[in-house]
Amino acid sequence: MLDWLAQSDEPVLNIDKLTYAGNLENLQSLEGDARHIFVKCDIGDADHVASLLALHRPRAIINFAAESHVDRSIHGPADFIQTNVVGTFQLLEAVRGHWNGLAEAEKLAFRFLHVSTDEVYGSLAKDAPAFREDNTYEPNSPYSASKAASDHLVRAYHHTYGLPVLTTNCSNNYGPFHFPEKLIPLCIQNALSGKPLPIYGNGQQIRDWLYVKDHCSAIRRVLEAGVPGETYNVGGWNEKANLDVVHTLCAVLDQLQPRPDGESYAKQVTFVKDRPGHDQRYAIDASKLEKELGWKPVETFDTGIVKTVQWYLANQAWANNVTTGAYQGWVGKHYGG
Ligand code: DAU
Repeated sequence: MLDWLAQSDEPVLNIDKLTYAGNLENLQSLEGDARHIFVKCDIGDADHVASLLALHRPRAIINFAAESHVDRSIHGPADFIQTNVVGTFQLLEAVRGHWNGLAEAEKLAFRFLHVSTDEVYGSLAKDAPAFREDNTYEPNSPYSASKAASDHLVRAYHHTYGLPVLTTNCSNNYGPFHFPEKLIPLCIQNALSGKPLPIYGNGQQIRDWLYVKDHCSAIRRVLEAGVPGETYNVGGWNEKANLDVVHTLCAVLDQLQPRPDGESYAKQVTFVKDRPGHDQRYAIDASKLEKELGWKPVETFDTGIVKTVQWYLANQAWANNVTTGAYQGWVGKHYGG
């Protein structure tokens, strides 16, 4: 939202259910901005969505809505099926009804962009080539299975009803406003408050890291020039083992805000029980997006992680606010203390 309105004056209707990770404080800088309309709404409430579509007549819909944390999907998969599968289905139904009623030119120009994940492709062996758009779907967690199901529904609405859909499958995002249940913001916050930095298993699992602003620019590009019915992988070309990610962020923190005792934050690294069914490696081949639509990420991991740590240091009030309440309950349940 912030990124869109920083680049364009085209108004945005923002609908969000405001579950535990939804936070209106993230949108504070848009207060009083007539280009941004916020409505608390569940994508699974097709009637509500349909009435909003009729009222605002958007030219495009970008579906970011999802339960997204793998560990939560292991403890409680039901919410993931409800939001990611049933919710996407209900949203598609509302959109199909709206789209069918449009004039021919509006129908042609309309887009439904579905934001998905590289996790739908499963886990890669160490030397296997990175995921391409034609890899088979092999989701391994309740989360990735729910996203895979939603991707299939989106695909089916294109093939069956002709809805002009686009799907993007991205790698691990990081950057400002990232909810501190995910590895990078969790470790920044734990480091600063003197807590352990929990590394699952041996920390040698590999992820590709995509700075959030690069993800936004990729979405804008796909929306602008993507071919309906196509899928596009979005990645940062930044494969890293988890332990290296955490050591890098500790080194940045050591520079920017040294520990009072002069030791490195890396001393707080603690190996904990592995995630059940933990995927070993994800890697994205984003060359289709580069060749066909001319998109490339701007940030390397080394530049993006510095920006991220700087943002968290400058926004400790925000980070501390979101780590209270429901989130604290989650930490106790998952990490046992
Ligand atoms: O690949 C894209 C996906 O990236 C998105 O689809 C998901 O919504 C997003 O949550 C993320 O999934 P991951 O499971 O890779 O992200 P997470 O930050 O939970 O974990 C990153 C890696 O770090 C993973 O291998 C598990 C590990 N990890 C995570 C946590 C929270 C730890 O070692 N310790 C931790 O405490």
